[in-house]
Amino acid sequence: MSSPASRPAPPALLPWLDSLRCPHCGDPLALTERTLRCPHRHSFDLARSGYLPLLAGTSPTSGDDDAMARARDSFLATGAYAPLREAITQTAPAGVCRILDIGGGTGYYLAGLLDERVDAHGLGVDTSVRALRFAARAHERAAAASWDVFARFPLADGSADLVLDVFAPRNPEEFARVLAPGGHLLVVRPAPDHLAQLRTAVPGMVGLDPRKEERLAQALDPLFSTVRTTEVRFGLALDALTARDLVAMTPSARHVDEQALHTLLTGDSEVTVSVLVSLHRRR
Ligand SMILES: C[S@@+](CC[C@H](N)C(=O)[O-])C[C@H]1O[C@@H](n2cnc3c(N)ncnc32)[C@H](O)[C@@H]1O
Repeated sequence: MSSPASRPAPPALLPWLDSLRCPHCGDPLALTERTLRCPHRHSFDLARSGYLPLLAGTSPTSGDDDAMARARDSFLATGAYAPLREAITQTAPAGVCRILDIGGGTGYYLAGLLDERVDAHGLGVDTSVRALRFAARAHERAAAASWDVFARFPLADGSADLVLDVFAPRNPEEFARVLAPGGHLLVVRPAPDHLAQLRTAVPGMVGLDPRKEERLAQALDPLFSTVRTTEVRFGLALDALTARDLVAMTPSARHVDEQALHTLLTGDSEVTVSVLVSLHRRR
């Protein structure tokens, strides 16, 4: 077996090399074996698991912990959110080649899209190391990198055709900067009654901000025009384990005690998934 140092860089990273920029000085990066270096000798070693750490020494402002990322992986592996994955794939414009998945988590939605777009390649970005380990092997045409969505992205202007943002934090200015002219942003967020039954059953689950849509429109409007918004709505029958994973993969995990979850979610339940999927075009 080859040692990590002698293993070649993941082929999925190669299409992104010309677009990547040093997070310290903004200069281009060149790859030698498993290290990217800029002309000022700032260097970034690929992680053993294959993702590219580009956090540049700053602590990320937010990100999922190990348990949340594992719960997300287990939950998504059940196929419970397959209708949403399908809706995302249907909504993405034809002909997109370079797809940036912001706060991409385990890479589930990006992988679904790449399955359908055989000429496209993806880059999943996150701050969660555990999520990045999943994302680095989510698809043969998906690379993974760590950076903070709230900082300047280590990417050249116009490097992507599509930015995906699925239940993830947003930075509209950077989305617009790294999108090519005419590029698109696809945003997925919960509708007001998303998982309402679960929110009732589990006290302490984080509520949804009723002004979320208004604030999203305000943030996007100067930079993007909305092409369309659709609601994806379906009922989901959950066994107790899957319901617990569904709570444990959300920010509510930090507010709900795991032992309490075992007591509250013991049998099968039925929940309504209700999310908004919108497509926006860079102005
Ligand atoms: C709710 S999860 C969604 C994950 C994935 N898009 C999905 O739907 O399966 C939000 C993701 O955003 C990531 N995240 C949170 N804060 C971030 C930040 N400041 N920069 C980059 N990613 C961040 C989390 O680690 C997490 O993986």
